[in-house]
Amino acid sequence: MPLSKDFLWGGATAANQYEGGWNQGGRGLANVDLAPHGERREAIILGLEKHLQPEEGLFYPGHEAVDFYNHWQEDIALFAEMGFKTFRMSIAWSRIFPKGDESQPNEEGLLFYEKIFKELRKYEIEPLVTITHFDIPMHLVTEYGGWRNRKMIDFYKNLVTVLFTRYKGLVKYWLTFNEINVLLHAPFMGAGVYIEEGENRDEVLFTAAHHELVASALATKIAHQIDPENKIGCMVAAGDYYPWDSKPENVREALDKNRENLFLIDVQARGKYPNYFLKQLEREGISLPIVEGDEELLAQNTVDFVSFSYYSSRVAKVLEEGDEETSGNIFASVKNPYLKASEWGWQIDPVGLRTTMNTLYDRYQKPLFIVENGLGAVDKPDEEGYVADDYRIAYMADHIAEMVKAVELDGVELLGYTSWGCIDLVSASTGEMSKRYGFIYVDRDDQGKGSLKRTPKKSFNWYKKVIASNGQDL
Ligand code: BG6
Repeated sequence: MPLSKDFLWGGATAANQYEGGWNQGGRGLANVDLAPHGERREAIILGLEKHLQPEEGLFYPGHEAVDFYNHWQEDIALFAEMGFKTFRMSIAWSRIFPKGDESQPNEEGLLFYEKIFKELRKYEIEPLVTITHFDIPMHLVTEYGGWRNRKMIDFYKNLVTVLFTRYKGLVKYWLTFNEINVLLHAPFMGAGVYIEEGENRDEVLFTAAHHELVASALATKIAHQIDPENKIGCMVAAGDYYPWDSKPENVREALDKNRENLFLIDVQARGKYPNYFLKQLEREGISLPIVEGDEELLAQNTVDFVSFSYYSSRVAKVLEEGDEETSGNIFASVKNPYLKASEWGWQIDPVGLRTTMNTLYDRYQKPLFIVENGLGAVDKPDEEGYVADDYRIAYMADHIAEMVKAVELDGVELLGYTSWGCIDLVSASTGEMSKRYGFIYVDRDDQGKGSLKRTPKKSFNWYKKVIASNGQDL
């Protein structure tokens, strides 16, 4: 069976990397506003360095990003020209609740997204909305400690209730948390959490994760109550771990790594913590802050679909001296000798996309949605600002071909595909503009200089053709 005629082709963005307008429209300060460009970025996003206020002398690329805040009409028209059926974007929480714990939302923020959703609908583009994409009002971090605090569930509940009520009929597809597993690696970005000295890291992270899981289940429940048409998805930074070789210990290592990556999704999609994780807690002497009603809520409110990002597969091995590790999307992996890599060292594995889709579908038996995939590369525009990005076309064609095989040959149910950074935006890991993913070039450099002019790249027309042929003409 080829892709369904309703297949949701499109592109993906996130407020913190795309929207800008960080101090406009009554928006409050968020954790994502505190990720500077340069050498301190990594320690800050991983939560190793506390950074609570913007500092003079540092450049924060997300503050203006590529200014979707003031370019939304132009950008949406370009997406429509490519034939997008869907557009993934996220809500800046602090635009709706500037501090996070108010009882009344900020009307200006709500209006901003309402205009956008209406504009998308004008072109028959289905919005796909991430409720939080690494995005927490800073007040909730400084006053409550971020997601380590159970009160966050109530603040999130207020947020989603406002969103589902206000945008009923405008938005149907929602993702509760972007890449929920990232909080285990980058606690400040993922959960607004700092691990204090002497604390048990796993205990703090699993506590924060439990609160997010409960919040996600609650959001699913409320979404369905407000509008039974709503479809709620979880979201994982996916990419199967392959065993390095057939040595039993390496095969076992791959199993453990895959479980570490998927246990939160096991809860969101299957409704309970898997036994292997409960055993790990027992061994580590950690008890989760589960209160009465949590287990029932999780069991009764599993997601409607499983969405994921895929940039690369990974390799697991019991490490020995001299083993070369690489990283893609903050996940450590042993370097796979069979694969080439991007300029940032992210290994390129289209077949791994098909394999990963099968893993997720076999495990969850729920429709999947690929909500991120793409190549971060240096683009060199000519004098007109045009980029002939054949390398990006090749990457995407290879991945889409494998995606189609997963559907046609393996029978995986797939709702859609949104390529990451369909328009150039700020890189999450490095804060660079020069790590570009888009079909549309944006004139802005790593220091924030440039006219912000938008120019379609060669891949723009290529993707238009892919969408028009429903994935047949690659
Ligand atoms: C995903 C994130 O992890 O990867 C995005 O959801 C991010 O926010 C994307 O931008 C690509 O990563 P990077 O670091 O190249 O921007």
